Amino acid sequence: MMIENYIRDIQDFPKKGILFKDITPLLNDPKAREECLKLLVTDLKVEKIDVVVGAESRGFFFGMLIAQELNAGFVPIRKPNKLPAETISASYALEYGTDSLEIHTDAIKKGDRVLIHDDVLATGGTAKAMCELVESLGGEIVQVNFLMEIEFLRGRDKMKDYPVFSVLKY
Ligand code: PRP
Ligand code: MG
Repeated sequence: MMIENYIRDIQDFPKKGILFKDITPLLNDPKAREECLKLLVTDLKVEKIDVVVGAESRGFFFGMLIAQELNAGFVPIRKPNKLPAETISASYALEYGTDSLEIHTDAIKKGDRVLIHDDVLATGGTAKAMCELVESLGGEIVQVNFLMEIEFLRGRDKMKDYPVFSVLKY
């Protein structure tokens, strides 16, 4: 099974000149999903993961599947003003300006072993902000994984402190 066959290229989305990697065919195929999930959890089954943390919104799909597979908790990191209880936030750079992400302050306990998941590692801004949030709550980041990594954007450079795994590299 070739997972890459379930990632579809969409030209000029969300802007002209951008080639968008669309994961919806992967989400829509149970066998491909299962295969992809297997790759995401292979190295993790040997060590205990307490919590999987996924980024809104595309990090929720496989983040939740991974959490279920590892019998771990699932914690959403969300865009501003979406989470109802007390939060902390971290900001990250966009092409123009900044954006921020939030997590519930009681979602991670000090010493929790955490897996961070998102669909794509691009510039690494999102993933780095997630790591900051988890660490400010005392979580220990055991691994960070992605469905795919856009290598020329060098997101991995921002993630040098962590073990990073991606299923596909472009
Ligand atoms: C996309 C993608 C990653 C992030 C990667 O999310 O799903 O979360 O960008 O980019 P970066 O490494 O440069 O930070 P987006 O913010 O578009 O939102 P979505 O997941 O809700 O579609
Ligand atoms: Mg995202």
